[in-house]
Amino acid sequence: MQYHFELKNKTILVTGASSGIGKEIALNISQSGGHVIITGRDKARLRKTFNILFGEDHSFHVADLSVDSELIALIDQLPLLDGIVHAAGITSHIPAKFINSKNINETFDINFNAPVLLMKQLLLKKLLNNSASIVFLSSIASKYPYFGGALYSASKLAIEGYSRTLALELAPKKIRANCLSPAMVQTPMLERTEETISKESLERLKVMHPLGLGLPEDVANAAVFLLSDAARWITGQNIILGGF
Ligand SMILES: NC(=O)c1ccc[n+]([C@@H]2O[C@H](COP(=O)([O-])OP(=O)(O)OC[C@H]3O[C@@H](n4cnc5c(N)ncnc54)[C@H](OP(=O)(O)O)[C@@H]3O)[C@@H](O)[C@H]2O)c1
Repeated sequence: MQYHFELKNKTILVTGASSGIGKEIALNISQSGGHVIITGRDKARLRKTFNILFGEDHSFHVADLSVDSELIALIDQLPLLDGIVHAAGITSHIPAKFINSKNINETFDINFNAPVLLMKQLLLKKLLNNSASIVFLSSIASKYPYFGGALYSASKLAIEGYSRTLALELAPKKIRANCLSPAMVQTPMLERTEETISKESLERLKVMHPLGLGLPEDVANAAVFLLSDAARWITGQNIILGGF
């Protein structure tokens, strides 16, 4: 495969890099010449990502981003950044009548609060270079509901709204903020979803994809584009992936 977008000399933080989409994004950034700082909770899997990165000057930090002290400890170790990809996230499959406050907190803590609080610290500590690019992982679920997906959809819609406002606030420094909203991508998250919903529901969802299910690299290609200077006039947008 040819890589068209250059990330040479850019330092980029990728959350959720121990699995699935975040892992592939970290790999693609390194293949495009960037330096990656990867983070996730599972040390062994994070190290596996680290070991497949191309080039040099990468680093990894284990952190549960829903724990304030671990988020701050990560921030304290960061250099100046040219980009961030907020890929860490969880799904939730709970019918509306069974949702409780613990479920709400669990979903929002990582899908919304963590990226928002991470951005707050990066901005307060002036850790973003001018012209940096911020990419949030939203989901097609924010537009197309699925049974039991109320919390997941709401958390993704929330991050889309946040991203649009952030884009406006950071535009004077030419810092861009955008969301990617993939349809279903073949990752461990999807494998876990397959265990919790019926075969019929899953088939119904799959046939909605005109180009079939996505691969992590399909999302990584879009992320690398948004991180690159080729996307310098794109901000406050939400790019839907998967043909919806
Ligand atoms: N797969 C899809 O179909 C799909 C579609 C649309 C959008 N997305 C979005 O894409 C993103 C990545 O999804 P994926 O499919 O790659 O999922 P995945 O394979 O389950 O990976 C999720 C990642 O998030 C990290 N994470 C979860 N909770 C965390 C926490 N509290 N602190 C720090 N890291 C945490 C995990 O770290 P550990 O494993 O180390 O715990 C893992 O690296 C998510 O935001 C998801 O909502 C996925």
